[in-house]
Amino acid sequence: MAPTVEDRFTHRNDTLYCEDVPVRDVVDAVGTPVYVYSLARLRDAFRGFDQAFAGSRHLVCFSVKANSNLAVLRAFVNEGSGFDIVSGGELFRVLKAGADPRKVVFSGVGKTRDEMEYALRSGILMFNVESEQEMEALNQVAGSMGVTAPVSFRINPDVDPQTHPYISTGMKKSKFGIAIDPAAEAYRRAIALSNLEVVGVDCHIGSQLTSTSPFADAAERVRAFVEVLRREGADIRYVDLGGGLGIRYDDEEPPDAGDYAKALMQGVRGLDVTLVLEPGRSMVGNAGILVTRVLYLKRTEAKNFVVVDGAMNDLIRPSLYGAFQGLRPVDRREAGSMTADVVGPICESGDFLAQDRSIQTPVPGDLMAVMSAGAYGFTMASNYNTRPRAAEVLVDGKEFAVVRERETLEGLVAGEKIPAML
Ligand SMILES: Cc1ncc(COP(=O)(O)O)c(C=O)c1O
Repeated sequence: MAPTVEDRFTHRNDTLYCEDVPVRDVVDAVGTPVYVYSLARLRDAFRGFDQAFAGSRHLVCFSVKANSNLAVLRAFVNEGSGFDIVSGGELFRVLKAGADPRKVVFSGVGKTRDEMEYALRSGILMFNVESEQEMEALNQVAGSMGVTAPVSFRINPDVDPQTHPYISTGMKKSKFGIAIDPAAEAYRRAIALSNLEVVGVDCHIGSQLTSTSPFADAAERVRAFVEVLRREGADIRYVDLGGGLGIRYDDEEPPDAGDYAKALMQGVRGLDVTLVLEPGRSMVGNAGILVTRVLYLKRTEAKNFVVVDGAMNDLIRPSLYGAFQGLRPVDRREAGSMTADVVGPICESGDFLAQDRSIQTPVPGDLMAVMSAGAYGFTMASNYNTRPRAAEVLVDGKEFAVVRERETLEGLVAGEKIPAML
């Protein structure tokens, strides 16, 4: 079923609005490229998701990697959200945004000892441990601090999420997690270690899933595994089923939060645990757009190119995954249409936002909105080609606020030094 949350980016009188703010007003204030987020859409997404799990004890931990702007994090803090982090940097961000550390889970395949110490000092809910060596390291760090680390193991249920291989994380060949059989051994070892407390089981099978069945299969496998662990005396109180719910970029028909929640709750039925969920994309993906300005039209024998001022350094999903991002003209007019590649100024052939796309024929200066850019947009942005990263703006009804200034050229070189030897 298609998502039912309201689209907060709509045309009125042929100009694009975010909630009640004309996108053009944002551009007049901060220029392009700029990310624009809708607060109402963030809240709708969180509430819809949270309510879908009302039938079971649960904690929603927004996955910070999808969008880590402090204002976005604060919006989720205000909704009572917890957070799924994968680095000390993300922990720093969520604490700065006012998160309750007891609602923070720490995932990721390569946590450093410093990061472990920081998280233990902060008093997070649990570590999702991904290897036996990491477990040993965590035990040592906790021991040296005189504390006990709460742990889950990320198990790898070997379920095919039927998504892009780069965002498929729960298969046997994946670097993530531990396969079920060795995981049983890891749990035995962890229970015997004096500075660890086994509290849960974790899995995350991939991202942008558009059907419930891989989630349901993974949840069933987790349930069976929890039963085995409990028979061996492990006190499993949390089952973390990760994130992964897809969104509509193009014509996908992802399940809505209700169907997704039903599949997961059915999968772990009867377990009497607190479910932890780590949604990222489904919370923020359709709450944001990237607005870019058309610089030039370049017609060649083989193709038409629309060169815009946003590029792969701003939004890498099309280049990295061949991902589809919708495009809308900020101002609609009777201009006819053309088929073109929409490309950025970066010196890579892979620098495109769309390929062979039918769009309203633009003229230089036109504004174009790249839709569904709220997740894995700014967080994956870089300074490649020494391009300052875009500004970010949050809209609330008729108001908007700059929640991240556009980077400056001086700022880009601030940490660099030309040594005396030169
Ligand atoms: C461990 C973990 N949890 C949660 C997420 C969030 O996934 P999504 O944005 O698909 O909901 C990811 C993303 O890949 C992840 O690796």
